[in-house]
Amino acid sequence: MKTLPKGFARRMVEWQRLHGRQGLPWQNTQDPYRVWLSEIMLQQTQVSTVLDYFPRFLTRFPDVASLAAAPQDDVLALWSGLGYYSRARNLHKCAQEVMGRFGGAFPRRAEDLQTLPGIGRSTAAAIAAFCFQERAAILDGNVKRVLTRVLGYGEDLAVSKNEKALWALAQDLLPAQAADMPRYTQALMDLGATVCLPRKTQCEACPVITGCQARARGEPLAYPVKTRKLKRSSMTLWLLWAVNAQGQVWLQKRPDKGIWAGLFSLPVFDSEADLLAAWATGRDPQFVAPWKHVLTHRDLHLHPIHMLGSEELPPVGEGQWVDADVWPNLGLPAPIRALLGS
Ligand code: ADE
Repeated sequence: MKTLPKGFARRMVEWQRLHGRQGLPWQNTQDPYRVWLSEIMLQQTQVSTVLDYFPRFLTRFPDVASLAAAPQDDVLALWSGLGYYSRARNLHKCAQEVMGRFGGAFPRRAEDLQTLPGIGRSTAAAIAAFCFQERAAILDGNVKRVLTRVLGYGEDLAVSKNEKALWALAQDLLPAQAADMPRYTQALMDLGATVCLPRKTQCEACPVITGCQARARGEPLAYPVKTRKLKRSSMTLWLLWAVNAQGQVWLQKRPDKGIWAGLFSLPVFDSEADLLAAWATGRDPQFVAPWKHVLTHRDLHLHPIHMLGSEELPPVGEGQWVDADVWPNLGLPAPIRALLGS
C-alpha cells in the first residue's frame, strides 16, 4: 500500500493557478469538440505547432458536423505536416460516430468517450475532466513520469498489472471536489511539460517537492521504470518521381493500411528494379541523393528516382497526373512534400 503525499491535489491546483500555462486557445472552453481536437493534436505534437494548426482546422471545420461531413482527403490535407495520420483518420471516423451514435453531441462520461475511435483512456478522461468536471484520472507519458516519481513507484510499467495499479493510484490522488478537476488535470500536464522533465528536472520549481519519493531517494531520473524497449525497424522505399511534359507529377493514393495510409504519394517500390520496370517509357533517370526520414518506430531510407515522360504513357498502377498548384493542398507525407518542394 502506497502512502499518498499529503495535499497533493490542492498543491497542484494552487500551483497551476500561479505558474501553469494559461490562455492557450483550447483552455477556458468547455466545448468538447475543441478540447477533443486539441488533445488529439497534442498527443504527438508540440504545443507551438498545434498553435498553428488548431485555429486553421477550426476555421475549416468549426464543429463536429462539418468535420463528419467532409471528404477524408480534405481532413488529411489539413492534417498534412502534423504526422501520425492515423490520428486524422480516427478523428474523421470519431466525428462521424459522434453524429451517428450520439446525435451530434459528444458523450459526457469518460467511459463513453473511450468507445470512440482514437480516444484512449487518458484522452477520454482529459475531455471529461476539462469539459464536464468528471473525476477521471489522466495517465499519459508525462503524467506517468510525474506520478511514478512523486510516489516512488518503481514497478515495471511494461507489465500490465503494474500499469493498472498506477491508474488506481492516479485515481486516488484526484481532488475531492469535482470543480477542481479541470485545473488539476491541466496542472499534471503542465508540471510534466515544464518542471518534471525527463532529464533536466526542475525540482526547485515543483509544488510537490516535499513528499516526492524520487527526490527523497535522490534519484528522480530513475522513474518511471519501463523495461520493454521500443524495437526500431528500418525500411527502404524507392520513390518514382515521374514528371510529364507539362511538369505534372504522378501521384497515387496510398492504400488504407500500411505506410502513409490514405495519403497521396509518389509511387513506392521495394527495389530500384521494380521501380524502373513500372515505367518503361520513363526517360533520363536521375538518382536523387537518398536520405533517412526518422519516424517513431522506424527509419525510412528514401531513394527517389526522377524521370521524364509523356502524358500518354503514365507509370503502371493507379494514379493521376497532378499540377504543381494542386499538390500543396493534398495530404502528402512530409518527406514527399519536402522533396517536391511545396
Ligand atoms: N498536452 C496534452 N494536453 C494538453 C493541454 N491541454 N495543454 C497543454 N499541453 C497539453
